Amino acid sequence: MKVSVIGCGYLGAVHAASMAELGHEVIGVDTDSHRISELAAHRAPFYEPQLPEILASAGAKGRLRFSTDIADAGGARVHFLAVGTPQKAGGYAADLTFVDAAVESLIPHLAPGDLVVGKSTVPVGTAARLAARVAEGCPGAMLAWNPEFLREGFAVKDTITPDRIVYGLPSDPDHAATAKALLDEIYATAIARDTPVVVTDYQTAELVKVAANAFLATKISFINAMAEIAEVVDADITQLADAIGYDSRIGRKFLNAGVGFGGGCLPKDIRAFTARAEELGRGESVSFLKEVDAINLRRRQRVVDLVIEMLGGKIYQRKVAVLGLSFKPESDDTRDSPALDVAVQLKGRGADVVAVDPKAVPNSMRKHPQLAYTEDLETALSGAHAVVLVTEWAQYRQLDPEWAARLVRRPLIIDGRNCLDPAAWRAAGWTYRGMGRS
Ligand code: UDX
Repeated sequence: MKVSVIGCGYLGAVHAASMAELGHEVIGVDTDSHRISELAAHRAPFYEPQLPEILASAGAKGRLRFSTDIADAGGARVHFLAVGTPQKAGGYAADLTFVDAAVESLIPHLAPGDLVVGKSTVPVGTAARLAARVAEGCPGAMLAWNPEFLREGFAVKDTITPDRIVYGLPSDPDHAATAKALLDEIYATAIARDTPVVVTDYQTAELVKVAANAFLATKISFINAMAEIAEVVDADITQLADAIGYDSRIGRKFLNAGVGFGGGCLPKDIRAFTARAEELGRGESVSFLKEVDAINLRRRQRVVDLVIEMLGGKIYQRKVAVLGLSFKPESDDTRDSPALDVAVQLKGRGADVVAVDPKAVPNSMRKHPQLAYTEDLETALSGAHAVVLVTEWAQYRQLDPEWAARLVRRPLIIDGRNCLDPAAWRAAGWTYRGMGRS
């Protein structure tokens, strides 16, 4: 199948390369010429495990091309929309400028029978509006909504072997049948592996995505709320999570208390959902998501407060080593990163912050040039008055407390991800503080 992918960011670049890996002939289009020149040379423009390998293998087979010219999408039968829907400046709603611009620029290159497939996360109602625009701009072309559930760090695996596929199809039965047949061909490999396919309407498909992210965010904020209580009564949140997680109705996944969630999806998606529900007159149905957001943001403040408390209120010109900058390990993404936020707040309070991350230093530096950065753990730790672990990269989880103790000025550690063994750190002479742990 000849396909185009409009938007080659974290979602689109992985989708384009994965579609080519699955045997389709792919053209990826983006307005960012640097990103496209990297991808055209089959180099990954950001850090994502396995992406360099599939870019190289699909590129070598001649199935994967990239362009800054949307006209090159012409001739493809299926056109994936994978552009960003960031939070609107000055508000909570999603900014649909890029989605609208992508559709408008694509329309002159569509042919009757083409299928436009939305993958971006959008407010419910967007697909119906865009479908009308596609039908008006190119009679005979169709639109489907096919949300993406990939996790950064596992994006290639999640795209090639998804745990479910959702098709939001047009209401016209002939168009729906054509769109379903095209999508079945696109996802033939996953379907052959018995991946569940939910075939539904536009609005359900749009809601599935935001509901899934709202649920995940709520699960994380639930355990972080319990951590706040645990902190008051000296209980242990990790044992609590283990104990409730054994109940298969609850499950242990996404119950890791810590500095909270960040990234390009969860924070902005719950806010956009709240804004859309209010527009629909159902704001109260998801008003709890405002609390989910507030709990999440309080955890960042809690880490900052703990550092100040452990330093006896004297943070000015104290060297604080911040371990981690990306919003989670195995990613260089710093969008709404709790780790970067903590580093910036500590700097704002007067600390001499030295932040270390194996992959996210360039992205962090562009956003916050006022911080000192290094990719070398020893440099970050040397002479530090306090150490704060905020992204649980394997190299930080596996840090040797005795080696680290020899480098720092004062052995104080705040484990913002509850990923270290408190007993081992205390045995090596450290004062250890976790999140929601005594
Ligand atoms: C998320 C969804 O998981 C994915 O399905 C959707 O397509 C996009 O949004 P992603 O943003 O890559 O994926 O990250 P995810 O693994 O969900 O983690 C989100 C944030 O939650 C990270 O900052 C992570 O550190 C945090 N988190 C996760 C916790 O704080 N505790 C947990 O138990 C799990």
